[in-house]
Amino acid sequence: MLPHTGVKTSSLSSTLYNHLDMRYNHFMKICIKKRIPNMRDFNFLYEQSGWGKIRFRIYARIRYISSFAVSVYDGKKIIGMGRAAGDGLHYTIYDVTVLNDYQGKGIGSIIMNTILDWFDALPDHPHLNLGSVKGKEGFYEKFGFKCRPYGELVGAGMKYVGRLI
Ligand SMILES: CC(C)(COP(=O)(O)OP(=O)(O)OC[C@H]1O[C@@H](n2cnc3c(N)ncnc32)[C@H](O)[C@@H]1OP(=O)(O)O)[C@@H](O)C(=O)NCCC(=O)NCCS
Repeated sequence: MLPHTGVKTSSLSSTLYNHLDMRYNHFMKICIKKRIPNMRDFNFLYEQSGWGKIRFRIYARIRYISSFAVSVYDGKKIIGMGRAAGDGLHYTIYDVTVLNDYQGKGIGSIIMNTILDWFDALPDHPHLNLGSVKGKEGFYEKFGFKCRPYGELVGAGMKYVGRLI
């Protein structure tokens, strides 16, 4: 057990342990769960991120289609989450967020490394993408993501904004 954090080191890869070890706050009791938070906690993080609240129908769908998810708690308090959904060939990371007061302490890194540990162990080398909020690209670059377009054969990621014709 990592002192003062509640983190069972046996459940963390050495990368996560080192990252947290350097940054952990003595008052945190960090707990990492590989699942979607309950709807109340999900909406708590969603609202504080400025993304609004989702209804149960959407929450249930998110739970159903997510291939992998991680929730981080300080004791019983939700402080971060992230998830990925895909079909075996293409996966997308969604909803990576950390509670404002806990940002800059390595929690986002725990979320990303937990998702990437899962992804890297998948068979058949699928593709992994995400859509970054403006200004957060540098965070994702630290974990091996590149802004598109980055190669001769790769165009920009695109978003549907409504029919023109
Ligand atoms: C983006 C976010 C998840 C990062 O979480 P965090 O817990 O603060 O991140 P960490 O403390 O683990 O930081 C990891 C590294 O990323 C860096 N980093 C964090 N935000 C960054 C940014 N916007 N640009 C560049 N680097 C960034 C940190 O400096 C740190 O670098 P270091 O390891 O060299 O010291 C958090 O800022 C957040 O929740 N933001 C609001 C929601 C949001 O915008 N989510 C992204 C949706 S696409």
